[in-house]
Amino acid sequence: MNKAILLAAYGSRHENSIAALTHMENCVRAAWPDIEVAKAYTSHQVRGRMVKKGEQADSVPEALERLLSKGVKRVAIQSLHVIPGSEFHALPPLAEKFMSQKDGFDRIEIGLPLLAGEEDIEQVAQAIISVLPPHRKEQEAVILMGHGTMHSGNSYYSKLHDCIQQQDSDVFVGALEAEPSVQTIRSLLLAKGIKKAFLLPLLFGVGYHASKDMAGKASDSWKSILEESGICCEAILKGAAEYDELASIWLTHLNETMKRLDKN
Ligand code: CO
Repeated sequence: MNKAILLAAYGSRHENSIAALTHMENCVRAAWPDIEVAKAYTSHQVRGRMVKKGEQADSVPEALERLLSKGVKRVAIQSLHVIPGSEFHALPPLAEKFMSQKDGFDRIEIGLPLLAGEEDIEQVAQAIISVLPPHRKEQEAVILMGHGTMHSGNSYYSKLHDCIQQQDSDVFVGALEAEPSVQTIRSLLLAKGIKKAFLLPLLFGVGYHASKDMAGKASDSWKSILEESGICCEAILKGAAEYDELASIWLTHLNETMKRLDKN
């Protein structure tokens, strides 16, 4: 077998995040039982911490080298990012390099992140609507916290927000490190007189960003900032990859990638 799938995740050492990645990995192995599945982490920081703990933490180039040395000639790199930001956009040049080098790969195809086009926005909105907390009552909001980036891919958060709002005007999408910020969302909630909000991470898994920055006790967490303004918060600590409805969108992207990989 000279084909492989390389899952490219941001990475996290948080046990819940590792569980989300394992869940995704198991889904991929079940769907492609005869193909080698490898993992790589795109965050330099996370890899550093993993290596320090003696864990295997390949970067994408390291994982590709490893696959080459095993005689793999075709690879599908599946991005497990939520939006196409800088981590995702680093993949195509790497693929180019590994295909053009001497004794490199015959073909590398790249699978898109969760939100990478108009169709995805609608599907992700639909999937999110289908997994909203069942015990949520009238007038209670849901806030999804994405990571956020300075990259233009950040626009996907507001695109998703607009799309979801057409179906449920009390569901909001924000970003931790960019706009729409928690302050922006807070003003929208206050203007609507909302008193309670559910907080859901729009992140691959529940790592430190979800448990601390979103739902933590510190005064600068989203929960604290909103509660300070009189909006009572309930966090649902489940990552995007842990919902089958969302995981299946990544898997659909991988399926499309595998089809391109097999083309002659
Ligand atoms: Co971060």
